[in-house]
Amino acid sequence: MNEIGRIQERLRRLEEEALAELRASRGAVKIQAVRTKYIGRKGLLTNFLREMGQLPVEERPALGQLANQLKAALEEATEQVLEKEHQRQRADQLLHAGVDISLPGRRPSLGSTHLITQVTEEIISIFQRLGFEVSEGPEVELDYYNFEALNFPKDHPARDMQDTFYFSPNVVLRTHTSPVQVRTMEKRQPPLRVIAPGRVYRHDSDPTHSPMFHQVEGFVVDHEITFADLKGTLTFFVHQFFGPNVQMRFRPSFFPFTEPSAEVDIQCVICQGKGCPVCKKSGWLEILGSGMIDPEVFHFVGYDPEVFTGFAFGLGVERIAMLQVGLSDIRIFFENNLQFLKQF
Ligand code: DAH
Repeated sequence: MNEIGRIQERLRRLEEEALAELRASRGAVKIQAVRTKYIGRKGLLTNFLREMGQLPVEERPALGQLANQLKAALEEATEQVLEKEHQRQRADQLLHAGVDISLPGRRPSLGSTHLITQVTEEIISIFQRLGFEVSEGPEVELDYYNFEALNFPKDHPARDMQDTFYFSPNVVLRTHTSPVQVRTMEKRQPPLRVIAPGRVYRHDSDPTHSPMFHQVEGFVVDHEITFADLKGTLTFFVHQFFGPNVQMRFRPSFFPFTEPSAEVDIQCVICQGKGCPVCKKSGWLEILGSGMIDPEVFHFVGYDPEVFTGFAFGLGVERIAMLQVGLSDIRIFFENNLQFLKQF
């Protein structure tokens, strides 16, 4: 081997040694020390470059190039080893802090529609198929719309059933969606076919009553609307919502704003009418109130009860949702328990 060959050989061995030392080093300080040993100002490779002057002129370019390549390779290797070292330290720190970076990432959880919203939307879509339009009214309501114009006079005992939260003697949180009837009729002329979903409030709180809950109001006003229209409409709804074979019955009742009034019961969906704790052994479940709109209400909005007639109904969304999925405590809807909510 000639002199040049020996020098090349020496350079290659230098490279191997340097790389092996770099890879075996732990800690940034040690790694930097290896770098300095080879390519620092007084490093082995640096010294070699300095001594190149003693080589024959014609050999210098080739050897110089080789040495420079080697220097660059060591520079790069040092960076890589340092980077790896940094990652290792970071992982160690995280592991110490209780974070296992080998675990898969956490997906952000997607929200879903609340059961009450789902049931409301289903109710709305059934009535939309019958040509009803959707309307909404304010939750903070005047006593006039919530009670007075619905024929609950100031001292009428029917007000006791719907005690509410008062902002002032004339401003309340609405206790039902029925005020939307008055607000709509006041502004418009028949024919009207409207449903009004929304939140309502009462001074009530126990396993089956929440101080805030949801209703869907519905009403129809036109010439010659009869109780048969009411029965047909609500029967269609019940069969669409609960199934075509569910029995239903209309039971006489009282509401100040309807005359005659009826409550609608369906065969208990839990026991199929045999009698169970949910239906209190009666076999029936009440799902809504309804009736023919009282002429007194028409007087308040300026309709002539000799010209127009109408029917109305109001149903409680939580109640229907509870029956549909078999729940006994209404409060679970509003506790924001994701394990519960995600089931639907
Ligand atoms: N607003 C009544 C309530 O909350 C429910 C109701 C009954 C609404 C009869 C109606 C109706 O429209 O005709 O208790």
